[in-house]
Amino acid sequence: MNRRLCLITGASAGIGAEFARQYAALGWDLAITARRKDRLEMLATELEATHKITVIPLVQDLARANSADKILETLAGQGRHVDALVNNAGYGLPGTFFNTGWKDQAAFIRVLYSAPVELTHKVLPGMAERGYGRIINVASLAGYAPGTAGHTLYASVKAGLIKFSESINAECAAGGHKDIHCTALCPGFTWSEFHDVNGTREDTDKMPKWMWMEAAPVVRAGIDAVNKGSPVIVPGLANKTLATLTRILPEPLTRTLAGRQSKRYRRTE
Ligand SMILES: NC(=O)c1ccc[n+]([C@@H]2O[C@H](COP(=O)([O-])OP(=O)(O)OC[C@H]3O[C@@H](n4cnc5c(N)ncnc54)[C@H](OP(=O)(O)O)[C@@H]3O)[C@@H](O)[C@H]2O)c1
Repeated sequence: MNRRLCLITGASAGIGAEFARQYAALGWDLAITARRKDRLEMLATELEATHKITVIPLVQDLARANSADKILETLAGQGRHVDALVNNAGYGLPGTFFNTGWKDQAAFIRVLYSAPVELTHKVLPGMAERGYGRIINVASLAGYAPGTAGHTLYASVKAGLIKFSESINAECAAGGHKDIHCTALCPGFTWSEFHDVNGTREDTDKMPKWMWMEAAPVVRAGIDAVNKGSPVIVPGLANKTLATLTRILPEPLTRTLAGRQSKRYRRTE
């Protein structure tokens, strides 16, 4: 009999690669996707050898409209279904909404929002049939905080993922699917390649170290939360405190504070 399978997007680096490592250590088979084939194959070889599991590397650019279908059709062709889905692939667009072309904005929405929503829509019926499912949407603390200059599309997409996850989790409960849970994982600054890719490493390196977390505890918090059925999890005490402050302080104050802070690592004009 096949082991349970977890499909992880953006598994060639950072938080996604850590999700692969932790689900592999739990004895799950994996389907790992990203654009960089060499990275996926290296990780697959490492995890298959260490944990005696099956890892299926799937090279896909999620900015392409048919990528979700291609991933799921390849898995179905191998007789595999998705028991857990981690929608993790993502990046930050450098610059502002004004000075970024529509092609890049559209690809961003596709990778960070449409693809997670489409994959969720397409794996849920099978999960319902089998009576088991876990969906983790990697959102961000930026989705909690007020929108700030430069974070324009990133914050709104991540806020959307939080609401989407809450609603899917509630729909599953209301529909009597007791063992299908969906969680938005909202990390703050996490060590990965994210800030190298978007060119903000020099600035983010000046942020205080207490604001940063390793990927491992972030991922552990996400897996624990989805198993408990929590709709949202903010990992780490510092991030939890910041998230709480955005809820209890008066809005004009949080807007000013968030705006000031984000100027330290975002281009705003
Ligand atoms: N690091 C942080 O501080 C932080 C904080 C809050 C939230 N997050 C979120 O955490 C998630 C993971 O980011 P990370 O920090 O682990 O960054 P990372 O180390 O740069 O990893 C990003 C992953 O996304 C994949 N990806 C990017 N564009 C893609 C595309 N068009 N198609 C398919 N895969 C694509 C990359 O793979 P390829 O390049 O090989 O395609 C890579 O595997 C993102 O959703 C991010 O928004 C990160």
